[in-house]
Amino acid sequence: MTEKQDVGRVVGVNGNMVSVAFDTVVIQNEVAYVAVGDTRLKSEVIRVRGQEADLQVFESTNGIRVGDPVEFSREMLSVELGPGLLTQIFDGLQNPLPQLAEEAGLFLKRGVYMDPLDYECTWAYTPKAAVGDTLRSGDSVGSVPEGMYEHRIMLPFSWPGEWKITWAAEAGDLTIRDTVAKASNGTEERDVTMVQTWPVKIPIVCYKERLFPRETLVTKVRIIDSFFPVAKGGTFCTPGPFGAGKTVLQHELSMRADVDIVLVAACGERAGEVVELLREFPHLEDPRTGRSLMDRTIIICNTSSMPVAAREASIYTSVTIAEYYRQMGLNILLLADSTSRWAQALREMSGRLEEIPGEEAFPAYLESLVAGFYERAGLVELNDGSQGSITIGGSVSPAGGNFEEPVTQATLKVVGGFLGLSRERANARRYPAVHPLESWSKYTSIVEGESLERARAMLRAGNEVDQMMKVVGEEGTPTEDFVTYLKSELLDRVYLQQNVFDEADAESPAEQQELAFALVMTVLDGAFQFADKADARSFFQKLTQAFLDWNSTVGKGEIFVTAKAAIERLIQSALDA
Ligand SMILES: Nc1ncnc2c1ncn2[C@@H]1O[C@H](COP(=O)(O)OP(=O)(O)O)[C@@H](O)[C@H]1O
Ligand SMILES: [Mg+2]
Repeated sequence: MTEKQDVGRVVGVNGNMVSVAFDTVVIQNEVAYVAVGDTRLKSEVIRVRGQEADLQVFESTNGIRVGDPVEFSREMLSVELGPGLLTQIFDGLQNPLPQLAEEAGLFLKRGVYMDPLDYECTWAYTPKAAVGDTLRSGDSVGSVPEGMYEHRIMLPFSWPGEWKITWAAEAGDLTIRDTVAKASNGTEERDVTMVQTWPVKIPIVCYKERLFPRETLVTKVRIIDSFFPVAKGGTFCTPGPFGAGKTVLQHELSMRADVDIVLVAACGERAGEVVELLREFPHLEDPRTGRSLMDRTIIICNTSSMPVAAREASIYTSVTIAEYYRQMGLNILLLADSTSRWAQALREMSGRLEEIPGEEAFPAYLESLVAGFYERAGLVELNDGSQGSITIGGSVSPAGGNFEEPVTQATLKVVGGFLGLSRERANARRYPAVHPLESWSKYTSIVEGESLERARAMLRAGNEVDQMMKVVGEEGTPTEDFVTYLKSELLDRVYLQQNVFDEADAESPAEQQELAFALVMTVLDGAFQFADKADARSFFQKLTQAFLDWNSTVGKGEIFVTAKAAIERLIQSALDA
C-alpha cells in the first residue's frame, strides 16, 4: 500500500474536484488521499499550478471541508498485476466488486479499498530462469497455471536494463508475495514476486516490435468476418443509438471470438445495465470449453452513478490488464461499453478545470485521448519470439444515434473498422443491426475479395431499387430490377442476419462462412429467368427458407448435408427453367 509522504490542505471543493495547497513538490497524476474524519478518499492529481494542485476524487466529495489534510503518495494511479486476475470483477480502481459488496453491504461504502488479488492463496509455481541467467523486464522468471493458461511470472516491467538471477525458488506452492527469485543488476539486488504494479496511464512496452495486424480475428459473426472484418490486434468501434444491440453484440463477440482472454470494460452505463451484466455474464457458457465464460474473462465495471473519475480510470485499468496478459503471448479482446460515457467523464472534469472547451464542450484534447486508448491495441512480437495481441472494440452511444458528434468522429479517425449499428435495422429486427452500406473495415475478410465486391454492389443496387419502389410501387418496377432487389434481400436475410438464439446459426465458423458465401454468390451471379414478379418472389421465398433451414443445421452432420443439397437443387431447377 502507499506510504504517507507529504501533506497538503484542502482550499476548495467543486464537485468531485478538490483544490489543495501544499509546500513541497507534487507530481502530475500522482495518487493522493483526502482525509475526511477517519475516511481516506482516493484521488488523482490532474493539475499542478504553483503551490496548488487540483485533484479529482474517485468518490463522493460530501463532507470535505477547507483545511482537511491531504496525503500525497508519490505513486501514479496503478494496478496490481499477478495471478488471480482472471474471473474477477473489479471497479475502475481495481476493487474486487463481489467482495466489496459483501464487506460493505450492497452499496459501496466510501473510502473502502480492497486488495485486488488474494495474498493468502497459493499457486503451483514452476521456475524457468536459473541462477546466472540474464533477464530483461518482461522476461519469464517462472510460471503458474491460471485456469487454462500458463501465467508467466515476469521480471517487473519497470526494472531498467539487464538483471542476473542470483537465486531461484524451487517448484512448489507459493503465494503471490513470496519471493520466487532474486536478481542483481550489478549495483543492487531485488526480490521478484508474482505480483507487480504498473501505472495505468502508461503503456507496457516490453516487447521486441509491433507487427502489422494481418490475421483476421474470426468472431463467427458473418457480417463482421466476411463484410467488416476485425484483425487480431486491430481496433474497431460499434456506434449505435440506445437499444440498437451494442451490448448484445459485445456479448456475442466475447463468447465467440477466437481469443484467449476477454476483458469487458463496462463503463458508466446505467446501474441497472451493469447489474444485468454482472448477473448474466457468469452464466454465459464458453462454447469452446462448455464451462463458464468467466473462466477466461475479467470485468471492469463502473455505473453512471459512480463518480466520473472512477469511470475515467476504468478504461485505463482494463487496457493495462490486457497488456499484462498480452505479455504472456496471449490474444486478448478488450470490449469497452461505452466509450461515450468515458468521454462524458472527461468532459465533466475538463469543465471543472475550466479548460477551454472544444466541440460540444468536450475537452479540446479528446481526440488524442481516444487515439491514445486505441493505440494500446496491437499485435506484438515479445522478447522470446512469441506473439501476443490486444484487439480493442469500443461501443459508442451518441445521443440520438447521430454519428457526427465528437466522440464518434474522434473514434473513426483511429479505428480500423467501423461497425455502425442502425436504428432502422434494429427496428426491423435485422440483427446484428450492423449497417451493411454505412460500415467499413480496413482489415482482410475471410471470404474472397472479388466476390465480396460483387456482393456489396448487389446490396447497393438492391437498396436503390428498394428506394425507387417506394416511389413508383412494385408494379412500376421492371422484373429485372425486382430480382436484383430480391437477391440483395436474400443476402441480407440469410447471410448478414444471424439468429443469436439459434445455437447453430449464432456460431458461424470460418469454413461455414466460406461455404455459405460461395453458395449465396451462385444465387447473386445466377442468370434467372422468371415469368413475372410473383414467380420470382415465390422462388426467393422458398430459397430463403431453404437457406435458413441450412443455417440451423451447421455442425449437425447428415441433416446439414441434406439441407445444403436442397438449396442446390432449388437453384439448379430455377437456372434450368
Ligand atoms: N442479435 C440480436 N438478436 C436478437 N435481439 C437482439 C439482438 N441484439 C439486440 N437485440 C434486442 O435489442 C435489445 C437492446 O439491445 P442492447 O444490446 O441492450 O442495446 P444497446 O446496448 O445498443 O442499447 C435487446 O435486449 C434485445 O431484445
Ligand atoms: Mg448497451
